Parts: sequence; C-alpha cells; structure tokens
Amino acid sequence: MPEIFESTNLAGIQLTNRLVRSATWEGLADEDGGVTSPLVQTYEQLADGGIGLIISSYLYVQPVGKQTPGQVGIYSDALLPGITRLATAVHERGGKIVGQIVHCGGQADSRTNGGLHPVAPSAVESPGYRETPQALSRMEIDEIVYSFADAARRLRDAGFDGVQLHGAHGYLLAQFLSPSRNVRTDEYGGDRSKRSRFCLDVYQAIRSAVGSGFPVLIKLNVDDFMEGSTTEQDSVFLATELAANGIDAIEVSGGTPGSGKLGPARPNIVQPEDEAYFLEQAKVIRSATGDLPLMLVGGLRSLDIMESVIDSGAADYLSMSRPLIREPDLPRRWLSGDRARAACVSCLGCFLPGHKGEGVRCVQKDKEA
Ligand SMILES: Cc1cc2nc3c(=O)[nH]c(=O)nc-3n(C[C@H](O)[C@H](O)[C@H](O)COP(=O)(O)O)c2cc1C
Ligand code: SF4
Repeated sequence: MPEIFESTNLAGIQLTNRLVRSATWEGLADEDGGVTSPLVQTYEQLADGGIGLIISSYLYVQPVGKQTPGQVGIYSDALLPGITRLATAVHERGGKIVGQIVHCGGQADSRTNGGLHPVAPSAVESPGYRETPQALSRMEIDEIVYSFADAARRLRDAGFDGVQLHGAHGYLLAQFLSPSRNVRTDEYGGDRSKRSRFCLDVYQAIRSAVGSGFPVLIKLNVDDFMEGSTTEQDSVFLATELAANGIDAIEVSGGTPGSGKLGPARPNIVQPEDEAYFLEQAKVIRSATGDLPLMLVGGLRSLDIMESVIDSGAADYLSMSRPLIREPDLPRRWLSGDRARAACVSCLGCFLPGHKGEGVRCVQKDKEA
C-alpha cells in the first residue's frame, strides 16, 4: 500500500512525501508583481515545514490577467531574479517547487491590474464579478498562448521543478471550456472539442518552449457546479486529451467563486464526512486517465482520511491550502507523531487581510496571539 510519508518520483521530481501545498495567493508581491522578502519568507517557512511539494501562488502571465492585490507576476524577464529567489529559497531547504501560471480572464480586476479592462473568450460576465469582459480577438488569443509559454520558460530558467497550468476555478482556461462563458462561434467555441482547444494549444506551446524533460501539470475543475457551465463530461474529455499528449499530473478541483457553497475553498470542514469534497470527482478522472499521477485538493484535514484516499487509489498526492496558512509546519508535526487534525477551522477569514493589501494570513491565529 502506498504511504503518505514515503519518497516518490513525480515526472522526475523526487519528493520526500505525498503532501502538496496547493497553489495559494499570498498577496505579498509589490505593485508590479515582483517578489518581496516577506514572500520569500513564506516559502522558506513552507519548505522548513516539511511539505513534499510546494505549488506557488497563481502567477499572472499578462498584466491584464491580474486579479488580486499583491499577486505575483511572471509576464516579463525583468521579474526573473525575484522568481529565482523563490526557487532557490525552497531548494536550499531541501524542498521542491512548481510554479502555477494563470490568466484570470473575466475574473481579472481593473482596480488591481492598473486599469486594464478584463478580457475573456466572450463578453459574458463571470458570476460574482462586476466587470463585463471584452471578447478576445483571434490575435489576442495567440498572444496569450505565447505569454503562457514564455512564463513556463521563465520558471524553468529560474530553477523551478515544473509548471502547473491553472485550469480551475473559473479563470481563463476554465472560461474557454465553459459552455456558458464561451459562446464563440470560431474554432475556440462550440462543441467540447472546440472549447478544449485553447487549453490544449497553451499546453502544446508550453511543451514546445520547455521540452519533454520539464514537468507540466494542470489544476483542473472537474465540475463548475454552476448552471450551464463545465460538467464532468467536459473535463473528462479535456483530461483525456491532455493525458494522451503527455501532461505529467492533474490536480483535481472544482467550483468557481460564483458557485456559492460549492466553491473551490468550502467553509466549515468540521466532520470527517466534510473532508475530501472532490473525492468522487477524482475517481471520475482516475477512471478516464488510468495511472496518470493525480492530486486531490479540497478540505483535506486529517491523516486518517488522507490515508483512506491513497488506499482507495483515487489520488496519489494530497494537496492542502488553508491548513498550511494556519500551520506551515503541519507535515513536520504529523511526521513527529502528533496525528491531530489540521488546526484550520475553514472560516475563510484568511482572504480578508489579503484583499486589504496586508497579505493573506490566518486571522484565527491572530486571535490566539
Ligand atoms: C487564501 C487562498 C488563496 C488561494 N489561492 C489560490 C491560487 O493562487 N491558485 C489556486 O489554484 N487555488 C488557490 N486557492 C484554492 C486552494 O488552492 C484550494 O484549492 C482550496 O482552498 C481548497 O483546499 P483547502 O481546503 O486545503 O484550503 C486559494 C485558497 C485560499 C484559501
Ligand atoms: S483564517 Fe485560518 S482558520 Fe480560517 S480558513 Fe484561513 S487558515 Fe483556516
């Protein structure tokens, strides 16, 4: 039986355990998206805490694709020295790091991106967002594909161990896949195959830029849980195509900020049955993609549940976000024999200081201080 605290090789990345820090916006970059010392310290703490793999926060590939205050950018070679600091800090502590890249599309925000109007496959509002995006021209689509490829190349040059495409949570890649948000009538809209095309083009462009030896992963929404939007059938189609074309791993997620209680980061994970809330979706992707490495994220809080996920064969890696905001040293605590569940109470309070520009942090921990 596979175990959580055992070494594995993920597409050439040697990992000391099966625990993953799922991508988490920290809100600590400077105005231009540049890396700052407090941000480097966050990664140092995570690496010291013993997590097997760190996935960076979502790094925006074009300024117009920026969403949140303090989001880190990867849209220019000028940002390379800062990005390199992150990889070096993690490696010096024996950790591994994959960079997540994103274009927020219709979920970008002109208040944080320097006044640029958000763009999307179609001029369709993203539920929960105030700006109706402008529909992308064919040429703009090509430019975004190149921006993703350039961003992946920068990660490789900065010494990262791999790249993860953010294909989840309603951002641009997910917008193209969604029948309700992509109503294009050209080769990028229409049936499932056409709606998958943008993501596959981005993946192929990245592969050409970084070569076959650099791991390329994707975080994928299996279901948007939103009327008329992406369903399991859409995601299975895309996952199967990506697997056939050599993607190295899929992290299974779901929901968008517009999905209400069925969003990606659900509140009130209290009982064991609240945990692992995308487990059924992981099983669906597992049956479609065979032995392709899968990561499961969403509400994982206790070792017993995680062990049962691994035993079930539904996923090979266990990703967490909020538990590591509260306890960056959680893996080390568990490894030392203290098996108590993660202290995070899933209140979602950590977003608030982030939106105020103070950086994401655990507000419950503040109360204890
Ligand atoms: C503060 C915060 C920031 C997040 N930032 C990202 C991000 O940059 N990229 C991403 O894919 N998901 C992001 N997420 C979602 C998490 O990666 C994860 O999918 C979700 O929180 C469920 O996992 P959890 O129950 O372990 O928190 C974020 C979540 C939180 C709470
Ligand atoms: S504020 Fe703290 S306890 Fe609440 S969800 Fe965030 S990390 Fe967990």
